[in-house]
Amino acid sequence: MAAEIISGNDVAKTIRAELKEEISKMKVSGVTPGLVVILVGEDPASQVYVRKKGEACEELGIKSETIRLPATTSEDEMLKLVDKYNADPEFDGILVQLPLPKQISEEKVLMRIDPGKDVDGFHPVNVGKMVVGAETYLPCTPAGIQDLLVRSGNDPKGKHVVILGRSNIVGKPIANILVQKAAGADATITVCHSRTADLPALSRQADILIAAMGVPKFVKADMVKDGVVVVDVGVNRIDDPTTKSGKRLVGDVDFDAVKDKAKAITPVPGGVGPMTITMLMKNTVRAAKVHHDYKG
Ligand code: GUN
Repeated sequence: MAAEIISGNDVAKTIRAELKEEISKMKVSGVTPGLVVILVGEDPASQVYVRKKGEACEELGIKSETIRLPATTSEDEMLKLVDKYNADPEFDGILVQLPLPKQISEEKVLMRIDPGKDVDGFHPVNVGKMVVGAETYLPCTPAGIQDLLVRSGNDPKGKHVVILGRSNIVGKPIANILVQKAAGADATITVCHSRTADLPALSRQADILIAAMGVPKFVKADMVKDGVVVVDVGVNRIDDPTTKSGKRLVGDVDFDAVKDKAKAITPVPGGVGPMTITMLMKNTVRAAKVHHDYKG
């Protein structure tokens, strides 16, 4: 069976077109959504993400500012910067790119962001709202995965979703989102991690498998059942002497091996990645609507 390739690029394009139109209308009423992105240090992956976020803002007509700070930035400087943007009405959303250098507590910084500007959905107030199923800013990667599943005709309702990885950014929130009694959710969830006994026995039970543990090509053909829907969240740069750069991007799934057993599978790149950025744009638009009491 040849798997359907779920194109995050295509789905993201559709949603961005919808958002672009919405933003044009908001601008007529004098509301321009604004996003500030703060990057500390030189992490190459973070630099790529931050650049893509800026480009997406530009494409959609969102006002954006990217603050690039040296890796030596102190925690105090970071907290002061967050305070500054909390108080600035020009910006509806604040995103602090993770990871932060070790002298800065991620927890302290994330807790300092005004929950109403927390378009990443990482503040404990928003995490709490997500867990109880209240309306809030959902973390962008999990929200993008949910949207990708639903829009590709793979509604998780009643399905057994097995998640590999328990990070605060992907594993834990996607489990909480898909277990909700709600449209686009209603799934039965298993979360596996590095201490799980016999992980392949569990992953083989998945109707929908979400791989988000950050190990290149971890999921092999014998770890999935026939007809599985696979969402690959991994972004791993591995050595490949056959390419010009000597590097290649691969997911957490051995795509070539798994695709013949799967009903549908997301590619890397072009799967979850573009959806994450699109959900950030969506959250920023929502924040602007709330801040300006825009009903549209
Ligand atoms: N680092 C990796 N993923 C993310 C994300 O979704 N948001 C932020 N702020 N940092 C990240």
